[in-house]
Amino acid sequence: MVVAAVLGAAGGIGQPLSLLVKQNPAIKELRLFDVVPVVKGVAADVSHVDTPAVTTGYVKDEDGLKHALKGADIVIIPAGVPRKPGMTRDDLFNINAGIVRDLAQGIAENCPKAFVLIISNPVNSTVPIAAEVFKAAGTFDPKRLFGVTTLDVVRASTMSAQAIGKPNDAAQYTIPVVGGHSGVTILPLLSQSKPALPESLFSDSVKLKALVNRIQFGGDEVVQAKAGGGSATLSMAYAGYKFAEQLIAAAFEGKKGVVAPSYVYVADNKDVQKEIGQDLAFFSVPVELGPNGAEKLHPLGQLSSYEKELLQACLGELPGSITKGVNFIQQPK
Ligand code: NAI
Repeated sequence: MVVAAVLGAAGGIGQPLSLLVKQNPAIKELRLFDVVPVVKGVAADVSHVDTPAVTTGYVKDEDGLKHALKGADIVIIPAGVPRKPGMTRDDLFNINAGIVRDLAQGIAENCPKAFVLIISNPVNSTVPIAAEVFKAAGTFDPKRLFGVTTLDVVRASTMSAQAIGKPNDAAQYTIPVVGGHSGVTILPLLSQSKPALPESLFSDSVKLKALVNRIQFGGDEVVQAKAGGGSATLSMAYAGYKFAEQLIAAAFEGKKGVVAPSYVYVADNKDVQKEIGQDLAFFSVPVELGPNGAEKLHPLGQLSSYEKELLQACLGELPGSITKGVNFIQQPK
């Protein structure tokens, strides 16, 4: 059975995510960590749910990180500050970069073999930060580090179903979303939807562009509607758990053929580099999950000419975000 830890568990994402993780019968221990003491109350609350996971809460100032992480199999990180109206995910870098660095250090020391799922934004930079910390500690395993981009995948299904007038059918459409997790770096491959989206969508370029834009900037709809109260939390908890559930099934329960897009280390993968036409260290691709984590990276496949344009826009921004994360560790100011 699995030991899971949620870091930042008292937050807007952390609380509902912890509740969802508690429902997974494969989990025997659920450890909730945060810098604010209310996390102990969150843990007490969640612990009353009648599922197997024994749930405990830990705060930073009581050596809590160590206790929360010791021997954990899977660590999910929604710690950090969220966006307010007018902010991009990059604006969060200054605060969240240090948070992710310190949490990654804790993982390297206490559970170096854990699967690490990073939700904290900007994901395009925080995943490279964690990788650099793990490399310096000698614990980096590229198969075990994931940037969670599942909310983009979930939004692609929901918004595409709405755009074609089938708002109740969101779950039927599986659409790969690749690239990164921020604005134009988010690259929804609508042409590869299964089942296929109607031809009328692709022949109406105004409608198609509006849909792509809505998927790329869907987070802004929530930020604006919450009007200063934060960014997506409930849909993110749903998406974060969806990915965690897929990983748990593939890694610990022997489920085969589980493929989900995630922002992973691709520097060693010549096929991916060739497809994107650049040497990039991180990119979100459909990942086949298994006992070791990211067992196999699937190709992006055939892109439409419009999607090729979107890829170029993604490549205009993503390398800088990766470098920013790498430099934060390699050249600290
Ligand atoms: P929130 O402010 O409600 O919660 C964040 C929690 O992290 C708080 O409880 C806070 O005390 C805690 N925290 C801060 N520093 C910490 C540390 N050093 N160790 C442990 N916990 C710490 O924020 P919310 O809405 O839950 O968002 C969290 C993060 O998730 C943000 O960076 C946000 O941008 C990101 N996010 C990512 C998405 C994605 O698709 N990957 C989607 C939506 C949000």
